[in-house]
Amino acid sequence: MNRLSVTNLCKTYVDSDQRIEVLRNVDLEVMPSELVCITGQSGCGKSTLLHILGLLDSPDAGKVFLNGMEVTSLMPEAPSIRNLKIGFVFQFHYLVDDLTARENVALPMLIAGSSTGRAMQKAAELLTWFDMRHRANHYPNQLSGGEQQRIALARALINQPEVILADEPTGNLDPEHSLEVYDIIGRLNRDFGQTFVVVTHDPQLAGFADSVYALQNGVLMLE
Ligand SMILES: Nc1ncnc2c1ncn2[C@@H]1O[C@H](COP(=O)(O)OP(=O)(O)O)[C@@H](O)[C@H]1O
Ligand SMILES: [Mg+2]
Repeated sequence: MNRLSVTNLCKTYVDSDQRIEVLRNVDLEVMPSELVCITGQSGCGKSTLLHILGLLDSPDAGKVFLNGMEVTSLMPEAPSIRNLKIGFVFQFHYLVDDLTARENVALPMLIAGSSTGRAMQKAAELLTWFDMRHRANHYPNQLSGGEQQRIALARALINQPEVILADEPTGNLDPEHSLEVYDIIGRLNRDFGQTFVVVTHDPQLAGFADSVYALQNGVLMLE
């Protein structure tokens, strides 16, 4: 069974007199442990698609399935599904400025109702795996861009999500730090079977993906 799928997604934005047809009957199937890349020009609708996949936005038509069950952003369980089953990584890290790296990583587990002790312990283990243990008590503004994205990835992982959705996770990084982030995504995928959908312009990450799709004029095509 597929991990995440969408069928016939349609999304149109209407701005005063302008209609932007962003997604036209988009279908996508993501299998467990698959690393999927989505490419496409700026403004073509990649973030819109990722937001719908992550139940942050609703399509005008079409369905989203997680492990074969239909899910929508409007269902009362949506916030809990997002927190427990879907990890998000964005272009900007969106870490909480006045929490330490370790507290930022622990946050989704605390929101899910875990004790502080357990969440902080798990956060410490993840920081070790990410080679960031020595930065545990640093605040986001004391970290480099690459380190901030590693913390954002650790935070996305802490509840052991079914899938991680990453929206141009290296869009704001120089090539060296981008490489670090790709390396982590690749290891999480290979060593732990973590499922990913990654929006990226970067051919390097697309190079080791299982499937690469291009979004163009609202249509998603397998490359
Ligand atoms: N809330 C919105 N209202 C109106 N237009 C929007 C909205 N969000 C995105 N758009 C438009 O939809 C198109 C796709 O946006 P987006 O999904 O962010 O593209 P990408 O991530 O590929 O750069 C763009 O033309 C954008 O301006
Ligand atoms: Mg975008």
